[in-house]
Amino acid sequence: MRIGFYQFCPSFHNPELNLARIAAALGHIKADLIVLPEMCTTGYLFSSREELLRFAEPIPDGQSCRSMLELCRRMNMAVVFGLAERAGDRIYNSAVLVTGSGETGVYRKAHLFADEKDMFEPGNTPFPVFDVGGVKVGMLVCFDHFFPEAARALALRGAQIICHPANLVLDYAFMTSTCRTIENRVFWILADRTGSEKLTEREIRFVGRSQIVAPSGRLLYRAGADTEELPVVEIDPREALDKMVTPRNHLLSDRRTDLY
Ligand code: ACM
Repeated sequence: MRIGFYQFCPSFHNPELNLARIAAALGHIKADLIVLPEMCTTGYLFSSREELLRFAEPIPDGQSCRSMLELCRRMNMAVVFGLAERAGDRIYNSAVLVTGSGETGVYRKAHLFADEKDMFEPGNTPFPVFDVGGVKVGMLVCFDHFFPEAARALALRGAQIICHPANLVLDYAFMTSTCRTIENRVFWILADRTGSEKLTEREIRFVGRSQIVAPSGRLLYRAGADTEELPVVEIDPREALDKMVTPRNHLLSDRRTDLY
């Protein structure tokens, strides 16, 4: 299975341009599963919830999903991308899975970061796992990496690959997501963005350094802090089915749920 990510700097509040860039970049590669950053069609900062509501899109009928569905059908690949999702007058910070056969799956970010609490509803999708060509795939969004229960819930549901769209502003996820990978023995695709955004007095800089980690914790690829990159690596997803740390230690069944 060929998996990868597209690390780039989305254009601020310009979904048409971002969708065109994504289609152009992914239209030249051979891959089975590509992960894009959090909120990759709009950028991250909004001055108000009302402004964000104008950019948020329904799933699967919004322009971003339609564009990704067309791309995935044409390239016969699956894509996971971050999107401000509009559901009635609610907004979720969502990750969307789109497959080459036209299916969509949604995960809504459970752990909102900082001022996201003023913009989004907390997620209400209890860590679904989806089938991509016979491989079980789960999604988290950015700050979710701080909560080991989230990745564990996906592993307990059988996820072999965790797709992690992010807009990282802190320097922890390279370590925490590697720990989550080791403690669950899953593949992990962390897709971060680069660049910075400025809105009135607020400026934030994103830290890049997207990475792909194998169930053993081995780093398969790490991107630069400020480079546009679209790496694809070959993996055997069956590696994530082996939960034995030693011949006598199974990561999931050795848990002491009677003590926790
Ligand atoms: C984050 O959750 N976007 C830091």
